Amino acid sequence: MNRVKVLSPATSANLGPGYDVFGLALCEPYDIITLSKSNDKGISLSLKGKCDKIPTEVDKNTAGVVVKKIMEDFNINGGIHIDIEKGIKPGSGLGSSSASCAGVALAMNELFNLNLSKLELTKYASLGETVAAGVAHADNVAPAIYGGFTMVINYEPLEVLHIPTEFEVVVALPNIQISTKEAREILPNKVPIKDMVNNIGKACGMIYGIYNRNMGLFGRCMMGDTVVEPLRSQLIKDYSKVKSKVLDLDLAHGITISGSGPAIISLPKENCAKSIKEIFLEVWDCPVYHTKVGKGAHVLERD
Ligand code: HSE
Repeated sequence: MNRVKVLSPATSANLGPGYDVFGLALCEPYDIITLSKSNDKGISLSLKGKCDKIPTEVDKNTAGVVVKKIMEDFNINGGIHIDIEKGIKPGSGLGSSSASCAGVALAMNELFNLNLSKLELTKYASLGETVAAGVAHADNVAPAIYGGFTMVINYEPLEVLHIPTEFEVVVALPNIQISTKEAREILPNKVPIKDMVNNIGKACGMIYGIYNRNMGLFGRCMMGDTVVEPLRSQLIKDYSKVKSKVLDLDLAHGITISGSGPAIISLPKENCAKSIKEIFLEVWDCPVYHTKVGKGAHVLERD
């Protein structure tokens, strides 16, 4: 095999109380990544699509770092060209860098028959997050690899649990710049024990809800975070107004910040997606995706 093309999905991390733990893979948007063996030695990189401000230098590019590390670990000496078509806007709160990292990890696995497990692919992909956010948080890369709903239950060593699921979401991408690094820096290092008790309770409610197809419970608990969302919501102009409107009109099971924002994720009640989309557009005039929870990164073509 000389070339492999993969699709790698956007992801929504945290989901309220699951900070750095919970994640969902979305059907849209996504990146398309093509990895080709080349005659030149080393790694080259090309970017197209929504790639403003993404570095093309391999050592500064999150996906480049992942490919380089896999080449080193497996003594791969030839040349590799990485072509990334960015469908996921960087810095939007939808795991843009994670999608590219997960996509190249999967593509390397296929191109060189490395037989890496999903957990090992997640570990490699999360290395790129160190470049993007200063920390190798894995709550975006895990769903980008596994699909569905994932829980990072331990970091050292990394342990991921996966629940296959499928439900509708409506996601807005307000045109506000928030860097994950800054959105992490505003969070406290310590939390009161009552918040710990609250967030564990709500996280348990979400898992129970997902297993029992009780989206009302899932959504209500998703909105129960008392640690992260209250602080980060201040970074997103009009978020509180939009959230109140969607809930007052009884359109969603839940609505919260996606990852470090500014993306907003909502779980529409039956036949309410269109109305939620209209409210998002009224206030933000921004891209809105009415999509579903879906598959992790997967191969589209190989030759
Ligand atoms: N868990 C990470 C954070 C996700 O909230 O900082 C970043 O998208």
